[in-house]
Amino acid sequence: MALKFMTAEEAAALINNNDNVGFSGFTHAGCPKVVPGFIAKRAEEEHAKGNPFKINVFTGASTGDKLDGVLTRAKAINFRAPYQTNKSMRDAINNGEIKYCDLHLSTMAQDIRYGYYGKIDYAVIEACEVTENGEIVPTCGVGISPTVSRLAKKVIVELNEWNPKAMRGMHDIPEPQDPPTREDIPVYGVHDRVGKDHIKVDPDKIIVVRTNEPNEGSGFAPVDEVTAQIGKNVADFFIKEMAEGRMPKTFLPVQSGVGNIANAVLAAMGESKDIPDFDVYTEVIQDAVIGLMESGRVKFASGCSLTVSNPCIEHIYQNLDFFKERIVLRPSEYSNNPEVVRRLGVIAINTAIEADIYGNINSTHVMGTKMMNGIGGSGDFTRSAYVSIFVTPSVAKDGKISSFVPMVAHQDHSEHSVKVIISEYGVADLRGKCPEERAQEIINKCVHPDYRPLLQEYIKNAPKGQTKFDMYNAFAFHEAFQETGSMKNVTWRKPKNA
Ligand code: COA
Repeated sequence: MALKFMTAEEAAALINNNDNVGFSGFTHAGCPKVVPGFIAKRAEEEHAKGNPFKINVFTGASTGDKLDGVLTRAKAINFRAPYQTNKSMRDAINNGEIKYCDLHLSTMAQDIRYGYYGKIDYAVIEACEVTENGEIVPTCGVGISPTVSRLAKKVIVELNEWNPKAMRGMHDIPEPQDPPTREDIPVYGVHDRVGKDHIKVDPDKIIVVRTNEPNEGSGFAPVDEVTAQIGKNVADFFIKEMAEGRMPKTFLPVQSGVGNIANAVLAAMGESKDIPDFDVYTEVIQDAVIGLMESGRVKFASGCSLTVSNPCIEHIYQNLDFFKERIVLRPSEYSNNPEVVRRLGVIAINTAIEADIYGNINSTHVMGTKMMNGIGGSGDFTRSAYVSIFVTPSVAKDGKISSFVPMVAHQDHSEHSVKVIISEYGVADLRGKCPEERAQEIINKCVHPDYRPLLQEYIKNAPKGQTKFDMYNAFAFHEAFQETGSMKNVTWRKPKNA
C-alpha cells in the first residue's frame, strides 16, 4: 500500500486546538524539526483571528528549540510533560503560561497508556526510514515514540533524510504489556535486545513529511578545574570501592546524568587507568561516551538517545558499522527501567542543584521556586542503583550560593536513596550513617570552606532530636541570598520565646 505524503504545513493543519500531541525525541536527539514550526505558525494565525489555539505536548524528555522553543514563543502550548531544558519554555513555565508536569521519565509512556492524560490525538515522529507496511525507524532518540505512535489516531512521520537509513539496527523497540499481565523485562545484560528494530503501526494512519534538517546538538562546556576535580574524586571513589571489595573488580554498568558536569565526570573515569573498561546503561549517551568507546574504555552503551554535538553525530554516521555494534537505543521505559537498573547493579551518577546536610537532593528548583529543567531520569536510576551518587560543585554563582544548605528548598531525592555525594573538595560517603554523622561527613568532605562554620552553627543551634532540624533557620541560607545576594550573609532567627 502506498504511503500518504504531505507538506509539513498540510500535516500541521490537521492538528486542532487542545489536541494531545506526542512527539518523538529525547533531548534534541530525534525530535521533529519542521512540523512543530508550522503548528506554531498556525497558532499565531489563529490567535491573530482571536481564536484559541494551544496543544498539549508529550515527549520522552526535553526537545530541541525547533520544537519546545518555537511552540512556546508562539504561545501554542497549554500543557507539557515530562522534562525540558529550553530557555523560552523555562521562562513560560515559571511565569505560569505553560502547565508543566514533571515526572520520572520511565513512567511517561505507561502513564499515557494508563489513560492519565486522556487520548493521544497525533504523534509526530522523526524517522530515518518509513516503509509501506508501517515500519518506522527512529533517528537519534526513542523516548515515548512507540506508545504515542500506537495510540495516536494519525502518525505524522518527519522522514529526515539528514539521518542515514543505515541507522536501522541501532534501536531495540519493545513495548510492555500493562498490569495485571505485565511480565518481567528480559534485559539481563546491557547488550540484550528484547524488541524490534522499528516501531510498527497501521500504515493507514501514517502521513509522511519529507525533511532534511541537521540535528540541534550544540556541544558541552569545556572541562574546567572544578569539574575535572569532581571527575577525579568520582574515579578515586570507585578505585577505593573495588580495592575494599564493595564493588566487583570487573566493575558495573554506569549511568551518567545530563549536562556539562556529567560529561566531565565520564571523561575523568575514562582517563583513570585503575578503572577497568566498562559498559554504560544510561538514558542519554553524551559526547564523552563516544570518545571513550573509540579508545576502547567504554565497551557498550545502552541508552535512549544519542545526545551528542553535531560534529559527534556526523562522526557516528560516518562510522555506523563500528557504532551499531556498540550502541543500542531503547524507549525511555526500558533505558530507565528501575527493574533493570536494580538487576544490572547500575552505578548512578547524577548532578544536584543543591543538597542538604542530611543528603536530600534538589535537582530541579532554583531557590525552591524556579524550575530549571526537571527530574529527568535521575529518580529512575537513583532509587534502584547499586550505588547512587550525586555530584555538584561546592558553590554556584561565584561562591554567592552554597550548593550545600541546611535544608533543600525542594526535594527530588530523599536521604534514603542517596548514598554518596561528591564535590570538588571530596567524597561524602553516607552509607550506614545516622543523620548527625551524615551532616558531619558532608560538611567536612564536600562543603566549601567558607560555608562550613555556618552549617556547623546551624546544627549547634538546632533543637535536639534524631535529625537536628531548626524550623526557624532551615532556609536561612536561601533567605540571605534573596535579601543580600549572597548566602554568606546569614542572619539566624530565634524563636520568640527562646
Ligand atoms: N542555585 C542556583 N543556580 C544553580 C545552583 C544553585 N544551587 N546550582 C547550579 N546552578 C546553576 C548554574 O550556575 C548554571 O547556571 P547558568 O546556566 O546560568 O550558568 C546552571 O545551574 C547549570 O549548572 P551547570 O553547573 O552548568 O551544570 P549542568 O549543566 O551539569 O546541569 C543540572 C546541572 C542539575 C541543572 C542538570 O544536571 C539537571 O537538570 N539535572 C536534573 C535531571 C537529571 O539529573 N537527569 C539525569 C538523568 S539520566
